Amino acid sequence: MPAAASSDVLIISGAHRKGGNTDILTEHIAAALARHSLSHTDIILREKDIRPCTACLSCERDNNCVITDDMQALYPLLESSRVVVLVTPLYFFSMSSLMKIFIDRCQMLYARRFIHKAGSDTRGRTGIIVSLGATRKKKRFIGVTLTADFFFRTIGIRKMRTLYFTKVEKRGDIDTVKDIDKRIERVIDGIK
Ligand SMILES: Cc1cc2nc3c(=O)[nH]c(=O)nc-3n(C[C@H](O)[C@H](O)[C@H](O)COP(=O)(O)O)c2cc1C
Repeated sequence: MPAAASSDVLIISGAHRKGGNTDILTEHIAAALARHSLSHTDIILREKDIRPCTACLSCERDNNCVITDDMQALYPLLESSRVVVLVTPLYFFSMSSLMKIFIDRCQMLYARRFIHKAGSDTRGRTGIIVSLGATRKKKRFIGVTLTADFFFRTIGIRKMRTLYFTKVEKRGDIDTVKDIDKRIERVIDGIK
């Protein structure tokens, strides 16, 4: 059994720009969780040493990843957190590379669940994918949605909520979104 998560919500940020829109949005999410008395653990991927998957596939044999970096401490959190939130800027209509490298390293959890049949419990857990970009079209988040859906299934989460913000480009643009806190509240209401 993986170690139990000590927080109600695990937030993982794929922001590259310090103090940018994704960081500001993450602060809004944290404030909303606090208003609902929900604790959270924040993982800022740019501050972590997480190396790309080398496709060695030893996880299919050993039910573990051979790369000894900060990902090792995240695996148990990913398996045990009731709510997992991914926050990423839109890069080439996909997730940021920081987020994608992190997700690729979850191939180990894929092997654990679907090959070794040893994944954690799937019941009562929710995944939330949050993204923002300069685009004016919500449909442009289709790449982010597909990747997030498969990621959440891989870590044992079947229920996914989406929260996407358009027309957010320059640093601070996110704070011009009028209904930002209302939209975050609506998603958090669904996880309680
Ligand atoms: C490398 C790169 C690729 C980007 N690709 C897209 C894109 O495909 N679609 C889009 O709408 N915005 C794109 N953007 C704009 C960012 O999503 C937008 O500026 C966002 O607000 C950045 O978030 P940040 O302030 O947290 O860095 C891109 C920005 C960068 C730096």
